[in-house]
Amino acid sequence: MSKKVLVVKGSPRKQSTGELAVKWVVDTLKEKHPEDQVTVVDLGTYYLPLDAEPYVPAAAPQEYVSEEVKAWSKLVQEHDAVVFVTPEYNSSYPGALKHAVDLLSTEWAGKKAVVVGYSPSGAFFVVPELTTLLTKVGATVTAKVAVQTFVLGYEAKTGVSKDFANVANTDAQGNLVFALGTLH
Ligand SMILES: Cc1cc2nc3c(=O)[nH]c(=O)nc-3n(C[C@H](O)[C@H](O)[C@H](O)COP(=O)(O)O)c2cc1C
Repeated sequence: MSKKVLVVKGSPRKQSTGELAVKWVVDTLKEKHPEDQVTVVDLGTYYLPLDAEPYVPAAAPQEYVSEEVKAWSKLVQEHDAVVFVTPEYNSSYPGALKHAVDLLSTEWAGKKAVVVGYSPSGAFFVVPELTTLLTKVGATVTAKVAVQTFVLGYEAKTGVSKDFANVANTDAQGNLVFALGTLH
């Protein structure tokens, strides 16, 4: 059955290398589930003000004041699953990504989520960190993928962090297999 999948690019940097990671995710989704509708949100350009909301989201669910947060809430609600594509910054995720998660509350409950981390050292820390955050807000993390930056490209054969090898498998040719099937 066709799904609506939101891909969130978590790096807000203008010079972000995350484009390649997002392309990898989108290409893989389209290959595995061509019937799906995939939307990409880049937190570098998708404006979510820091001071827009007066209420604690969990205490006043979906009682938003700003148009930006109302739109963000609607976007998350109308998608069946969210793929978070995040770089590792100081062993965690970018502040922009934390803010995007913190702004909402009930929207995350039961939402299927995939965590894709990338960094030169293999995203060893950010993947469990973001998984913890998403679990805390009630999302269901169905797959976790950690990638060393140098493997972002279809020519790559290895580079998955050892501890995540069980979720980011390699096929018989040694190519990365992106475990997105669990979104369905
Ligand atoms: C503020 C900052 C902190 C970083 N901390 C880490 C780190 O703890 N571990 C790591 O492997 N790479 C770290 N890096 C490198 C980034 O993960 C790497 O450059 C990544 O490709 C950046 O993604 P982006 O270009 O999409 O923002 C850091 C980069 C920045 C900008």
